[in-house]
Parts: sequence; structure tokens; C-alpha cells
Amino acid sequence: MSGRRILVTSALPYANGNIHIGHLVEYIQTDVWVRFQKMRGENCRYFCADDTHGAAITISAQKKGVTEEEFIDGVRVAHLADFNDFGIQFDNYGSTNSPQTREYCNRFWTALRASRLVAEKEIEQLYDPEAKRFLADRFVKGTCPKCGKPDQYGDSCECGAVYSPTELINPKSVFSGATPELRKSKHLFVEIEKARAFLADWIDKSDALQPEVANYLKGQFLSDELWPWDISRPAPYFGFEIPDFPGNYWYVWYDAPIGYVGSTAQWCEKNGEKVEDWWQNPNAEIHHFIGKDITYFHTLFWPTTLNAAGFNLPKKVHIHGFLTVNGEKMSKSKGTFILARSYLNHLDPSYLRYYFSSKTTGRVDDLDLNLEEFENKVNADLIGAVVNLASRTAKFANATGLSDAYPDDGGLFQEAASKSEEIAAAYEACDFGKAIRITLECAYRANQFIETVAPWTLKKALTNLEKDENATEEARQEARKKLQDAATIGLNLFRQIIVYLAPILPELVKKTEKLLNTPITNWDDAQTPLLGAKVSEYEHMMTRVPKEGIQAMLEESVETDQKPEDENNGGKEGIAPWFDSKEHLEAEPLSETITIDDFMKVDLRVGRIVEAEQVKEARKLLRLKLSLGGNETRQVFAGIKAAYPEPEKLIGRLVVFVANLQPRQMKFGLSEGMIVAAGPGGPDVFVTSPDEGAAPGMRLH
Ligand code: 2FM
Ligand code: ZN
Repeated sequence: MSGRRILVTSALPYANGNIHIGHLVEYIQTDVWVRFQKMRGENCRYFCADDTHGAAITISAQKKGVTEEEFIDGVRVAHLADFNDFGIQFDNYGSTNSPQTREYCNRFWTALRASRLVAEKEIEQLYDPEAKRFLADRFVKGTCPKCGKPDQYGDSCECGAVYSPTELINPKSVFSGATPELRKSKHLFVEIEKARAFLADWIDKSDALQPEVANYLKGQFLSDELWPWDISRPAPYFGFEIPDFPGNYWYVWYDAPIGYVGSTAQWCEKNGEKVEDWWQNPNAEIHHFIGKDITYFHTLFWPTTLNAAGFNLPKKVHIHGFLTVNGEKMSKSKGTFILARSYLNHLDPSYLRYYFSSKTTGRVDDLDLNLEEFENKVNADLIGAVVNLASRTAKFANATGLSDAYPDDGGLFQEAASKSEEIAAAYEACDFGKAIRITLECAYRANQFIETVAPWTLKKALTNLEKDENATEEARQEARKKLQDAATIGLNLFRQIIVYLAPILPELVKKTEKLLNTPITNWDDAQTPLLGAKVSEYEHMMTRVPKEGIQAMLEESVETDQKPEDENNGGKEGIAPWFDSKEHLEAEPLSETITIDDFMKVDLRVGRIVEAEQVKEARKLLRLKLSLGGNETRQVFAGIKAAYPEPEKLIGRLVVFVANLQPRQMKFGLSEGMIVAAGPGGPDVFVTSPDEGAAPGMRLH
């Protein structure tokens, strides 16, 4: 491993909603950068977590009728699935609601106190007398004092007016609907004005910020007194209680960046490493990737906190702009507010990883997803220029494998190899667009070469020679060699391009590894040609962007009606898809372990309900007749009367059935098995069905 020790983070997504393609600009950028560093052999780790605290989480959990913990657990599952399916590979994905984050909150707090940066002040704020809680501006709604529009937030209206919540007409608390009143309470503040000299110096000299960001901070913040930062919230609040200020909690934005350290600590515990080696070692580099909307948290408050605790300051804060779609803000009515999952339902994630990367420059500019350009670029570059190289050559080397010596390619491999450091420098600077441009030039040259050499013509010539009885074995050998050499060149130039694009296209890397039976792990894999390797049967590597996939994704997105409702990010997200309470597991804990042989004794089969009726004399029972296919039927008495008051509606349904239960003679007839259902009983019983495609008689394994 080479000298650098690099800790990388992306902004922690708020646990109040789904990941959408706006988020993905950042996660893809970070993931590409991390994969690049790892390929270069650097000791690089990528940490992230869910940002789980704050009043917005409480509201969402209440709406779902679950605890905050249950709510954030549900969101976490959805977030992890989205990241995984987009190939975002974290070394650790934690949560701000973790013991590790709490511990570091305490440690940073002690440091801030010791640096005399914390002060107590009384403030006046709206209070909900029914819910018994103070209300942030976003949790008060009422009629806009400027335009008269009802149902507007306490700080701003859709008409563009900005005001204070006390100016709203007929204000109501989002929690209870009660009319709020003004009340005083004590809050703690971090007086970052006291850190001015340190901040000015860091912003000026550290090289951690893009020039436009440094200028913005100097112009917008440092030119005036820095306002104290209100860092505490009175109970009730979902978060960590402040140890030396009981009844008060740290504001979600205090513990959010500390979640970076908490996630590191979790990883260190699992891997026998030390947090200080990553956060307090002068040789370690910290790289934060964030969006421009949260610049001031990461460039004013966070460095102040780190500095107070003697932690490393960020080596670089990589700030990106917002995503627009077809030149406009993402819009729900136009279907351009696209959830990660809606994209995945219709399109290959590699397309988006490539397209976003091609437009990533390392500057703060916004990035536009133009759907027509998206389609054309992916088709032209990835299919037309890159994958084509393999698809036009691989089959010709399938029988022979690659040549044992690298043939003369007119210097193409060498030329592309010499671009390695230039491409690497572009990746390092987050100018992935440039890295792609240089790589594609290599691809164009390689394609020209293949056109000229035309292996398909060589193949024809060889076939003719093989058929020609008068041809000498020597001539055939020569033709075979020519074809093998052409394919060897094509596949090596292809592989070299895949190495350069590997941080962006991990799935294509896997397919290339399989095709050429050789792993790609290192940046220097582009320096030496691959010789003598077996070449597998060519399998499709990537298909053209399906137009109908784009259309279907937009249509699906028009229907996602999401209400912005978070406190700390201006409502970027909607509601996560599932929230499962642990009540059932608690009511009926898991049974003791059995062996597979025990399980196999139970013969579970798919059956179709062909008759269903109430048993008049029995309070709980329905009589069901199940078909197992053909003429095989079974009679079952099931205790599901209360849950299925109209049994005829069950007719036709597929169910799961215990087929080898000893038959039992009941008062009403013979019961020949049992259908599988979930739930505590009474009306709460849910008959389970197999997925579509299952058929009566199939066994469950
Ligand atoms: O803006 C957001 O979505 C925040 N949840 C980002 C937090 S980043 C870090 F500080 F944790
Ligand atoms: Zn208004």
C-alpha cells in the first residue's frame, strides 16, 4: 500500500425519505473517487451513515404509528438497498443514532466547552401547548401574511414571501393543530465569532476549498460578525440529551457531521483499527463530498468543532452543485423528481454512473441531466465506442485465447498506456469528464484500428483456407495467427479502456474479468498487455438505453406524490417505503433452531382454494377444499372465519398448505392438512400466497 491514508465521506442522507437522483450526483461522484484511490493502492476508506435525528423524524414516525427508532430502521433498509443497487460501496454505513456517535458528541462537546465557545441565552419561540413542545419555523403552518395563501410554512410562502412565524395569519402547530403561543426558553449557542481568526486563516491558506467557495465564505460570512449558532433544543426532541444541560438535546446539525466520526469508529471496532489514526494523524487526509446547500455547516461550524477537539481539519471539501433535469429544477408534476428506485426499475445503473461522471468537473456548477443527451451519449460512448471493441473481437479469440506475445499494433497500446498519469490526475481533481474524454480518444483510435484490420475478413480468409484442399498447413497457420493477433490487440485495447473507466463502471469490469479470465484490480493493469489468457464465450456486456425505459421511469415518477417535510435540508425528500414495527416479534419470539432435516419433514405445497364456505356450527372455522393439481384435492378446516367474512372471495387463490399433517376427524368432517397464515388471530389473520408463477402441487423448499 502506498503512502496516502484517505478518509472519505458523503453527506449523510436524512432518514426522512428516499434517495433520489439528485442525491446520486454526490454518491456516484464520491464512490468513483474512492474506487479510483483504491485502484491506485491508497489506503482509502469511505464512510457514511443515516442522519436520523430531529423533529421531522418524530412527525413522520407519528404518522406511521411507529417509534422513531422503528421509523429510521425502515428508512435505513431502503437507503442501503438503493445504494447497493447503484454500486455505491461504503466501507461502513452507520447511523447518527449510534453509541459511537453519542460518544463523539460528548467528546466534541467537552472540547467546545473547554475552548469557551459555548454560551447560554434565553430566546423566545413559538410553543405548542397541546403537544408541549417548541416549534421550529417549519412546524408552524398558517395563512401567508403577504398573499393570503393558506397552509404555508412559518418562514416562507410559495409566493416567495419570507417572514417570521409570528406574522402568519391563523398559525397552527403541525404536531397537534393547536394555536401556538410565544414562550421563552434557554438555549446553548456556539459563538463561532470567537473562531474568526482560525476560520479566516483556514479558508485562506489551507487549499481545502474550491476558489469560488472560499470567495463566497469571505463575501457572505467573514465580511460581517459571525452569528452564534443555536445548538440546543428543549425536550421533547429525537436526539441525544446534552449531559450538562438536562432536558435539552443537541440540534440535529450538531451531531450530523459527528456521524462521520461515529461511522469511522464503528468500522474501526470491526477492523481492529484506531479512530485517532484516521482523524488525528497528521498524515491522514479527510475528504468531505457535499452539495453546495450545506456549505456553511461544513466550512464554518464543522472545522471550528474539529479544531477545538484537536482533530484533523478537512484536507478538501469537494462541493458540487444541484441536479437539474432537462434544464429545470426537478419537478414532481413533470415526472423529473426521480427516485433512485424508480430509475432502477427501468434502467441500468451503469448508464447514470457514466453520464453523471462525464459531466463531473470538480467545480461547483449545477449538473444537468438532459434525457436525450443521456440516451445519445451512453449509446455512442459506451455501446458504440467501448463495448463494441469487445463484441467485435472476442469471438475470434474464443477458440485460441490471446496470443503469447503482444503483436505490433502501431504503438496504440503504448500510447494509451502513456495517458495513465494524465487520466489519474483528472480523477484526483474530480474532473471525471476529462478522464473520460482522454479515455474515449483511446477508444476511437482502437476502433479505427479494428476497422482497418477487420478481423471478420481475416476470419473469412481463414475459413476459405481451411476449406481449400490445396492450401498449405503453413498458410493456414499464418492466417490463424493473424486472426488471433488482431483479436489480441482489440481485446487488450478494450481492457485498457476498461481499466481507465473502472472507477465509474464496476459492473463492466466484472464482465471484462469474466471474458478475459483475469482480474482487474490495479490502475497499473493498463500498463502491460494481457497475454496467453483464455477468452470466454462473449456474453452481452451492455444494451443500448431503451427509450421506453426512460419513458416508463418518467411516468412512474409523476405518480410519486411526496411532501417535503424535513427540518434540516429544506425538504428534499419524501417518505420511505416501509416501516416495520418489532411488536410482532416481541409478542412471539423466534423459536429454537431446527435442522434442515427437521424442516424437510414438513411437506409444504402450493394449493388452490376451489371451495370455501362457513361452517355454520363453528364459531371460527371455514371449510376449504384445496386442489393440488389434477384430481388431487384436500379438505381443510381453517380458523379464519373472522378474518374472511366472505369466504367465496378466497376461491381461486393460491395458498401454502401443509400437506403431510396427520388427518384429523372433526365434528364437521375430516381435516386433511393446514393452510399457512400469519397474524395473532381473530380478524388479524392473513392467508399467505406464493408469488405469481407458482402452481398447485409445487413443493416449498
Ligand atoms: O442535507 C442533508 O441531507 C443532511 N442530512 C446532510 C448531513 S451531512 C453531515 F453533516 F452529516
Ligand atoms: Zn404568500
